[in-house]
Amino acid sequence: MTARGRVLGIETSCDETAAAVVERGRTVVTSVVSSQVDLHARYGGVVPELAGRAHVELALPVVTDALAGAGLDRRGRSFEDPAGPVGIDAVAATIGPGLIGALLVGVSTAKALALAWGVPFVGVNHLEGHLYAAMLEAPEIELPVVVLLVSGGHTLLVALDAPGSYRVLGATVDDAAGEAFDKVARFLGLGYPGGPAIEAAAASGDPRAFAFPRAMLDEGLDLSFSGLKTAVVHAVRRSPEASNADVAASFQQAVVDVLVAKALRGAEAARAGGLCLAGGVAANGLLRKTLSAACEELGLPVYVPSLAMCTDNAAMVAAAGWFQLRQRGPSPLDTGAQPNLRLPLGS
Ligand code: KG4
Ligand code: ZN
Repeated sequence: MTARGRVLGIETSCDETAAAVVERGRTVVTSVVSSQVDLHARYGGVVPELAGRAHVELALPVVTDALAGAGLDRRGRSFEDPAGPVGIDAVAATIGPGLIGALLVGVSTAKALALAWGVPFVGVNHLEGHLYAAMLEAPEIELPVVVLLVSGGHTLLVALDAPGSYRVLGATVDDAAGEAFDKVARFLGLGYPGGPAIEAAAASGDPRAFAFPRAMLDEGLDLSFSGLKTAVVHAVRRSPEASNADVAASFQQAVVDVLVAKALRGAEAARAGGLCLAGGVAANGLLRKTLSAACEELGLPVYVPSLAMCTDNAAMVAAAGWFQLRQRGPSPLDTGAQPNLRLPLGS
């Protein structure tokens, strides 16, 4: 182990090929993300076969870029001392959840590098990675915090008590928040990915034009979005003259109202010292603004990461890998990709 505690993280669970070098789970030395969003846009969603093939092409160039950003050549040696030791202490990769053909590329790349360099391999849960994203940008965060993780595949409220120790407080019982954005955008003909398209359309709309349901608002910490999606479909069929802007604004407001209410309730239930946002939907301007304002009013610290840290990246994977390595040790080299991996309940 070098004094720096440098982990190379690799992320290929969906449509981003990413690699990063992070020191001691806290300091991002370099983070490279190559998005395939243009490749999939014309199909209206991620095509697994295409994603896997693109990862194969991009994995080594992206890893090489990340290593170069840390002053290392593609053999992991310092540019200044090419005959010297490897400058990476462990290689972490997302093992799930995600698309099997996509995950396998990152997992195989990471294992090969770990084996060649004689350093530990760490298989990381992608969702656990998202939990550390805010901490990478705000080292002053004091745990415990509650993380609202809102992505295309997941909507979770998680209490992060200490690195490696977390409790799932609530989750969607049906669609993920991002999935609702994507489905409603498709229904309205706004294109893919749906979140940014809805947000853009909503900018000129009236969020009070339609009184869409706020499901389970007063019940516990679980969430539900499939009824909201159905309500949008019914409303548009009933009022075909309605503008996309008004529908999008009203839908977005309903999602944000629920997410903010649940996040605040989660923070209270866990007696958390702060709230963090994570996942692709955290890029939503209304969500960021509304949650920040609500927390400010309550005097509750709120950490809203940059857009790059909200969406999929490898820095969060390297950070999770570091904490996991320290607490549970390396993963065996026969660890497989696990497409349906979940966040364990408690730890
Ligand atoms: O975390 P992420 O990049 O990928 C995974 O799902 O893991 O999240 C992607 C999701 C998509 O559903 C996308 O529509 C949504 O995040 N999203 C947004 C915005 N930008 C991306 N949703 C609402 N508003 C946005 N500005
Ligand atoms: Zn993600």
